[in-house]
Amino acid sequence: MQTRLSLAPLSGIKTELLTVLAADTQTAKGAQAKPAPALLTADEAVKAATAEVLAGGEFKAAANETLLLHAPAGLAAKRLLLVGLGKSAAAGKLAAHRVREAAGTAVRFAKPRGIRELALALPSPETLPPAAAARAAVEGAFVGDFDPDTYRSDRKDQSVQSFTVAAPAGSHRAALEPAFAEGVIVGESQNFARSLINEPGNKLTPTILGQRAAEMAKEVGLGCEVYSTEKLHELKMGAFWSVSQGSSEPPALIVMRYEPEGVKDGPVLGLVGKGITFDTGGISIKPSDKMEQMKYDMAGGAAMIGAMRAIALLKPRVRVIAIVCAAENMPDGKAQKPGDVQTAMSGKTIEIINTDAEGRLVLADGLAYAKQLGATHLIDAATLTGACVVALGMVNAGAFSNDDATYAKFDAALAASGEKFWRLPLGEEYAEMMKSEIGDLKNTGGRWGGAITAAEFLHAFAEDTPWIHLDIAGVAWVEDSCPYIAKGPSGVGVRSILEWVRSY
Ligand code: BES
Ligand code: MN
Ligand code: ZN
Repeated sequence: MQTRLSLAPLSGIKTELLTVLAADTQTAKGAQAKPAPALLTADEAVKAATAEVLAGGEFKAAANETLLLHAPAGLAAKRLLLVGLGKSAAAGKLAAHRVREAAGTAVRFAKPRGIRELALALPSPETLPPAAAARAAVEGAFVGDFDPDTYRSDRKDQSVQSFTVAAPAGSHRAALEPAFAEGVIVGESQNFARSLINEPGNKLTPTILGQRAAEMAKEVGLGCEVYSTEKLHELKMGAFWSVSQGSSEPPALIVMRYEPEGVKDGPVLGLVGKGITFDTGGISIKPSDKMEQMKYDMAGGAAMIGAMRAIALLKPRVRVIAIVCAAENMPDGKAQKPGDVQTAMSGKTIEIINTDAEGRLVLADGLAYAKQLGATHLIDAATLTGACVVALGMVNAGAFSNDDATYAKFDAALAASGEKFWRLPLGEEYAEMMKSEIGDLKNTGGRWGGAITAAEFLHAFAEDTPWIHLDIAGVAWVEDSCPYIAKGPSGVGVRSILEWVRSY
């Protein structure tokens, strides 16, 4: 997708489809009054072309509601698309993520209609600073353009070829261009992560995930080493290996490094991702219903790889190491069994209660290795527990932290990323539930509070190092297609992790 920034007046933009945003201004008090959606543009020609249809009341400007007008009078555009932003926009607190969604909605409106080129007018500057709006619009357009139907023989290429962001009157190119360029990098990086997550287990083994990461690293100038079985043994990664040992596919320990020139001290951020390319559950095998979804059990690892791509291109002044622990969790003659005791890299012993609680095992060694490589702050992402999905549904991902100051930076990053994470507690009582009679820890803590006990298991390996754990099991895959994003891999985490890194 080509992207362009235009400073021309809206009426003069020659395009197949010009998108203009509108807010729902109806207040609770005025519920009996006629709703009057407010156009978020000062352009007189657009206002005139839409006056009649807006007065008619059929378009309410609800979030992501659309209305199409053909051959709008006084405009060079062939079609005019109104996209609603909902009520929050009218209250004067338009969030960037509304613009991101609206841009995705416009792109996904265009695609099935064979429209390959479109423009979107940024909201007027008093509602949202144009730089933030430009970045969000571009990101949203990339996210909306992604479709997961890679292996369909009858696949019709519906991708949008050109997306123009039209800046409000009085904007300066120099003020908008950096944010606009960021949007391209972030949108493409999120889609890169999604393309990895979308691959089935037979097409994306741990080895192939390692190759894809290495290719990307070479392209953007990141350091990258991909190790396998031998290195796991050398590092005494007994927890990671215990998951991998039941598969004939070798594991991949992917290490990526971003070392900005001249940054010799200060924090080293350690990004650790769960990269289970397929999770059968192992000997504690999963039921077959929906098991096919477990190809996305490497979404946490993919989020780290996507974030590293964006980091390499945006060049923040902080050192970053990413570790992705990739393996296949399979039942086999060589697979680990419930009751087995494994010794993790840190030296702690783990009693395996359920071989399906494998994500925490690979992460235990990933976190220990990140610390050994010098990480001063840790963040991990994983499709870790069904319990997190029970707790928060498919709306919010779970977040945990042992350090309020570190978490505050992540929370601040969410405003820019527009991603939804909800912090859940840790606690000594939960850690207690993970203690084993035969060894230091067991790998499951019983039925209740499963997302938290899993987090406490990881805490035992992060120890006192400031650390954030993201459980993305419920939000890594979009179950019901939305107006702004296709059903399939969401790429959640890439944007928030990136913003968190940039805050250092
Ligand atoms: N990969 C799963 C978690 C998961 C569930 C991801 C649903 C995405 C959607 C993880 O490895 C797992 O199997 N967890 C178990 C842990 C249990 C055995 C303690 C679970 O949540 O059931
Ligand atoms: Mn599992
Ligand atoms: Zn898993």
